[in-house]
Amino acid sequence: MESRYDVRSSKTTIGDIMNTFNIDNIRQDFPALNQLNRNRPLVYLDNAATTQKPNQVIDVISTFYRTSNANVHRGIYEISERATEAFESARQKAADFIHAEDSSSIIFTRGTTEAINLVAYAWGLHNLSPGDEILVTEMEHHSNIIPWQLIARKTGSILRYIPINEDGTLNLENSDIFFTSKTKIVAVIHQSNVLGTINPVKEIIQQAKQVGAISLVDGAQSTPHFKVDVQEIGCDFFAFSGHKMVGPTGVGVLYGKRELLESMEPFQGGGEMIKSVTFEESTWNDVPWKFEAGTPNIAQAIGLGAAIDYLNDIGIDQIHTYEQELTEYALDILEKIPGIQIYGQAPNRGAVISFNVDGVHPHDMVQFLDQDGIAVRGGHHCAQPIMKKFNVSATTRASFYLYNTRDEIDHLVESINKTASFLRR
Ligand SMILES: Cc1ncc(COP(=O)(O)O)c(C=O)c1O
Repeated sequence: MESRYDVRSSKTTIGDIMNTFNIDNIRQDFPALNQLNRNRPLVYLDNAATTQKPNQVIDVISTFYRTSNANVHRGIYEISERATEAFESARQKAADFIHAEDSSSIIFTRGTTEAINLVAYAWGLHNLSPGDEILVTEMEHHSNIIPWQLIARKTGSILRYIPINEDGTLNLENSDIFFTSKTKIVAVIHQSNVLGTINPVKEIIQQAKQVGAISLVDGAQSTPHFKVDVQEIGCDFFAFSGHKMVGPTGVGVLYGKRELLESMEPFQGGGEMIKSVTFEESTWNDVPWKFEAGTPNIAQAIGLGAAIDYLNDIGIDQIHTYEQELTEYALDILEKIPGIQIYGQAPNRGAVISFNVDGVHPHDMVQFLDQDGIAVRGGHHCAQPIMKKFNVSATTRASFYLYNTRDEIDHLVESINKTASFLRR
């Protein structure tokens, strides 16, 4: 059946790729886009922080609460069975979306942050010893630094960082220095939320395997934007968040290789995660439920399933190509702004652009853009080590998604120019 996003005859506004999906239809799906911000039409360019939600996702969540709300797994009445079926089918959708072996390798978490903490505590705490090394990169989000700092402190292990080059790529030239027999886990960001860099995770993981280390990929910024195949990447763990891919907040996924998940201790204790409990001791449920203590985020997981359906309906490859065009267009015209400095010039990059303009503090920039209806982010973007590396305290960041347009980018550039000339007067 032809998708309604696949309307080749409809009005096109940008490049050839627009012939394959209809931006007007897509934008109409997102009610939050159709509003004013400071009395100007909203231009939402903070998608790396969180994305807007389409009616298809909002409706699925609302219908669930209206018709099928019940706790999962334990009820044997009809609506509980319906809730369980929808919840477990969302798990299958998540598995298919990242090409996992099967749904038992998918653990629902609150998001990427909780997924990484789960690995740090349930694997790291029990498998790291004094002198062991945890290898991350200098471009990690805080959520892939802090859990490891905490675990390093508890276990006596050491946290090491693969450096970044001036252009925002990873410096893997002398990587043998970092991948040693002491390296026990390599945890790496797939796409930087500041620099946009898409890292060669497959190669990094091959190197990790050569020294006998396990691996984790932070896919918070990759999964929403391009096809992810965890089996092809070869990672042991992979984490992502629903809210960054048109899904609800409060749900994310930890993918883990089954043998590894089975060998691990539980993360949290409580209901759902046990097989049997006595006053003295307990046994654990099978994976993935062993890692889902308490009533899970049922409606959110079902909403994530709807988000995956939505992205699949449009096609993740189409979305990626569209965003690539949009990003190239944006880089092209942003670079022409006098006094602009763009952080991150990696050849393989996603739809995130961080910049500063001479003489304008990013917080002022963000406030002036806000007056023009434009929502962008100013700050350290939860990646303070990158700020230090580039010798700045903050940047302005514009990040795009499938519903953004060239017109919005034109408006952004116009507003940046206006702000810079006003503040430099
Ligand atoms: C690269 C990266 N990793 C992890 C996270 C944390 O995601 P969450 O806050 O959904 O747990 C983010 C959020 O911005 C991110 O961009």
